[in-house]
Amino acid sequence: MLEIGTHIGAYTVQIARALSLYGDESYKCSVDISDVNSTSAKPWLANNASHSPREEVNLAGVGENVEFFYSPSLNFFYKLQTTNRKFGLIFLDVDHSSKAVYKEIALALNKLNPNGVILVHDYFLEMKIFETMAILFMVVTWM
Ligand SMILES: C[S@@+](CC[C@H](N)C(=O)[O-])C[C@H]1O[C@@H](n2cnc3c(N)ncnc32)[C@H](O)[C@@H]1O
Repeated sequence: MLEIGTHIGAYTVQIARALSLYGDESYKCSVDISDVNSTSAKPWLANNASHSPREEVNLAGVGENVEFFYSPSLNFFYKLQTTNRKFGLIFLDVDHSSKAVYKEIALALNKLNPNGVILVHDYFLEMKIFETMAILFMVVTWM
């Protein structure tokens, strides 16, 4: 699992737990442009969370295979292209602009396992249904 946009780690922990329930202990990572685990700034407190994303996955008992990255999404994807690493689930949940999401999808497709899934959050943003359908078409035809 690769999550782009950690924020307070709400989905990070839930996805990691769900995968763990199905016996999937594979590598998982979550990326954010902010230092979401900063022990000095403690950004999670401003969002009414009592623990950092790192603490949340540890408390849920699924932290062992979860890694957090502090990076802009595209930089992360560019670096990822130089590795052999691929994922079964890629969750794109950052700024949600079509300009950013199109680039992320193109890069994510290259890092998806066969039969893998790309999850796109808020894909009906501003009701741009044709853009949404274009993205879905790209994903389905690629698979
Ligand atoms: C909607 S929140 C993510 C929510 C999270 N996936 C969850 O379900 O709890 C969006 C996050 O994306 C991060 N973000 C925004 N632009 C980004 C970028 N270009 N690269 C990486 N992260 C970015 C923000 O800092 C923010 O934490």
